[in-house]
Amino acid sequence: MTIPGLFVTGTDTGVGKTVVTAALCHILNRLGWSYGVMKPIETGWDGTTGDWPPDAGRLVEISGYTGDPEDVLPIFFEQPAAPLMAARWTGQTVDVDRLDRAWERQRRRHDFVLVEGAGGLAVPITEDLDMAGLARRWGLPLVVVARAALGTINHTVLTVAYARAKGIPVAGIVVNQFVPDPADPTRPDNAGMIEELTQVPVWAVLPHFRDPDAPAVGEALAASPGFRRWLTGLLQESRKG
Ligand SMILES: Nc1ncnc2c1ncn2[C@@H]1O[C@H](COP(=O)(O)OP(=O)(O)OP(=O)(O)O)[C@@H](O)[C@H]1O
Ligand SMILES: [Mg+2]
Repeated sequence: MTIPGLFVTGTDTGVGKTVVTAALCHILNRLGWSYGVMKPIETGWDGTTGDWPPDAGRLVEISGYTGDPEDVLPIFFEQPAAPLMAARWTGQTVDVDRLDRAWERQRRRHDFVLVEGAGGLAVPITEDLDMAGLARRWGLPLVVVARAALGTINHTVLTVAYARAKGIPVAGIVVNQFVPDPADPTRPDNAGMIEELTQVPVWAVLPHFRDPDAPAVGEALAASPGFRRWLTGLLQESRKG
């Protein structure tokens, strides 16, 4: 495989990264691939309620992962804050070697690993590493999930510019209507303008779902021409490799 997986980031927190990562799991399930999932750092979980926090749990459920939780979720914090801030509040430092070791184990087991970042690209992990740096460190191209509404052009162009400044390729953008807002007049034109300004393919414009479960969103993503073009290229590469 020419790429080791995808790093799913967003223009902000709460824009649909988990929904899109789960949708990608559904598509890979349908293709019969063996793939890994990771949420390297999840915040807002105290480690006691339930087996998994919401994001890692969702990815584990859809991918069918049954191995060591450490390999999917090496680090978590109780406080819902940027990892560097949550670490400082608790007198800790994020152990980047621990993240790397989980990644290496995933890579050894799978040709392809789906990784969901926390927040957006500039979210700090340590003084020297942010989410963009983590994607770069692991050689992962990005998928940027962006809101469908007013303001998204600015956020998306800035996110792509930041990725480029850090030398990270952006494989595609998913414009996600996570809030129903049929009155927004910018909505029909946002995707086209984002593509024009960033020169990154918009994989899909996802509608608002009553229940954004992985099969429903996955089928919508799989049916979108931009995503299909990317997937066709990936499948050709995987047959060659
Ligand atoms: N297209 C959609 N239609 C309906 N609801 C959606 C859609 N996309 C996302 N949502 C809902 O919006 C909320 C945020 O989505 P999600 O958890 O995927 O965001 P996130 O970027 O992963 O957030 P975080 O930064 O906390 O990881 C969730 O309740 C999710 O179910
Ligand atoms: Mg999430």
